[in-house]
Amino acid sequence: TPLVLMIIIGAYLLGSISSAVLICRLYGLPDPRDSGSGNPGATNVLRLGGRGAAASVLVCDILKGMLPVWLSYFIGVNPFMLGVIGIAACLGHIYPIFFHFRGGKGVATALGALAPIGWDLSGLLISTWLLTVMLSGYSSLGSMVTALAAPLFTWWIKPEYTMPVAMLSCLIVFRHHDNVRRLLEGQESKIWNKFQRRN
Ligand code: G3P
Repeated sequence: TPLVLMIIIGAYLLGSISSAVLICRLYGLPDPRDSGSGNPGATNVLRLGGRGAAASVLVCDILKGMLPVWLSYFIGVNPFMLGVIGIAACLGHIYPIFFHFRGGKGVATALGALAPIGWDLSGLLISTWLLTVMLSGYSSLGSMVTALAAPLFTWWIKPEYTMPVAMLSCLIVFRHHDNVRRLLEGQESKIWNKFQRRN
């Protein structure tokens, strides 16, 4: 229906607002696309030295996924289309129309988009991320392990959402290819390292 199409476009446009870039400007921090890992996301903003800024980025990026999916859920959009709307929000975040299509990795936005599936799933995902990051020190590894576990958790909790979640997971893991290379080369910076050289 035209309404669902409008929500999909709206989700993409909302996802396209790079909160990391805007919030760094607001806090007088360097542009996250030119510093640290070069990724406009909460992890890299934390690296650039702003805890408050990083927390704000995290919240805004989660909301970009959560708002359109929840709105659609409440107006009775079917599960398949909810998946499409969540993916549209993440595609906006990863390939933002307003920021020369140079966006982030979609981790926080995907977490937000999956929240309407249930707090049990969100809790499992957050726990997996935290556990991996606490054990390894690598935010990117946490994101990838969580992305790989997400379709399994979903299949267990709400099987009808397994396909769209698996698609999101593929997108997220694919976006981490530079991190995979850095991890294999032993060049990845730990989440608590404040500064990292440019690459
Ligand atoms: O959410 C992005 C995270 O998984 C990796 O970020 O800046 O270390 O590439 P970064």
